[in-house]
Amino acid sequence: MNSSRITYTAPGKIILFGEHAVVYGYPALAIAIDRRAKCTVSSYSSDEDVVLSTNLYPGKTFLVSCKESFPSSLQAILFLIKKLIDNFQSNLPLQIDISSSIPSSSGLGSSAAVSVALTNSLSTFLGGNYSLEDVNKIAFEAEKIQHGQPSGIDNNISTYGGSILYQNGLMEQITIDDFSGFWVIANSMIERNTKDIVANVQKNYKRKQEKTEEIFHLIHSIVIRGKECIKNNKLDEIGELMKENQTLLEQLGVGHSKVTDLLLILKKNGSVGEKLTGAGVGGCVVGLFDNIKDAHSAIKNIKKKGYQAFTANYTKIGVTIDD
Ligand code: MEV
Repeated sequence: MNSSRITYTAPGKIILFGEHAVVYGYPALAIAIDRRAKCTVSSYSSDEDVVLSTNLYPGKTFLVSCKESFPSSLQAILFLIKKLIDNFQSNLPLQIDISSSIPSSSGLGSSAAVSVALTNSLSTFLGGNYSLEDVNKIAFEAEKIQHGQPSGIDNNISTYGGSILYQNGLMEQITIDDFSGFWVIANSMIERNTKDIVANVQKNYKRKQEKTEEIFHLIHSIVIRGKECIKNNKLDEIGELMKENQTLLEQLGVGHSKVTDLLLILKKNGSVGEKLTGAGVGGCVVGLFDNIKDAHSAIKNIKKKGYQAFTANYTKIGVTIDD
C-alpha cells in the first residue's frame, strides 16, 4: 500500500470456558470484546532506524537497531518487527506506535491483540497483502515467544473477532446475535506471567496426570454445554457453568485470594455467574449480569474496593484498518 501512515486495531478477549485445558487440546470458548490494541506505522524522516513507542512504557522510545534496550516484555514485538522487515527486505526508517486499552498481563489477550495489529499494519505498510490466516499464523509465532506454549486461542480471537470455539488449531465461529446478558470485567490488579502459570499447571499435570485429566474432561463438558447455552441465550445456565468452571480452575491451582474477593463482590451485586478469565493467579475475572443496573452497581462497588472494573461488549470486529 502506498501510504505514509497505516493503522490497524485488534480486539482483546474473554475466555468464557476452557482456559488451561485448551493448552492440552481440549476446546475452549472465547468472545472478542470492545477493548482494542492499536498499531500505527508511519515513515520516519530523521533517522535510518525503526523507532518504537508503546503505552506500556510511556514517554520512552526503543530503537530496533539496539535490541539490548528492549525489555523482556517487548521481545515478541521486537521479533515481529524484525521478521517483517526481513520478509519485505525493507531498509526504510519507520516509526511504530502501539497503544492499547486492554489491561496488560491480566488475562484479556493484550499481547495477542498487539501482535495481530502490529503484523497487519507493518506488513501492509511495507507493501504486503497478508490474508487473515497469514496474520494469525505470524502473530502465533510472537505469542510463543511471549507465552511459551500458548494454545493459539488468543491470536485467533484477535484476528477474527466474534465468538469462537477453539481446539487444537481449529476454530469454529459461533453466532450469538441474540445474547441479552451484560459482561463485567474486574481486574484484581495482580499482574502475572501467563508463561509461568501455564508451566506451573504443566508441572502439576506431570505429578498428578490422572486427576488433572479428570478436571480437563469436566471442563470439556462445560465448554460443550456452554456453547449451546450461549447460542440459545440461556443466561442462568451460562452462569452456573461459569461457577463450575471456576471451581475446576481452583482445583488446577490457578485461583487467588483477590480473585475470590472479586467473585464475591460480583455475586453480592447480583451476577448470575462469575469466574476468572485467562491464566488466573490474579488477572481479571468476568461476571455475567441479566440487567445493566446490577452490572453498574457491581462496577461501582468493585471500584470502591480499589480494583478496576468495566463493562465489556461483545464485538464481531476482528483485526481491522483504522482510517
Ligand atoms: C489463554 O488466554 C489462557 C491459557 O489458556 C493459555 C493459552 O490458551 O494459551 C491459560
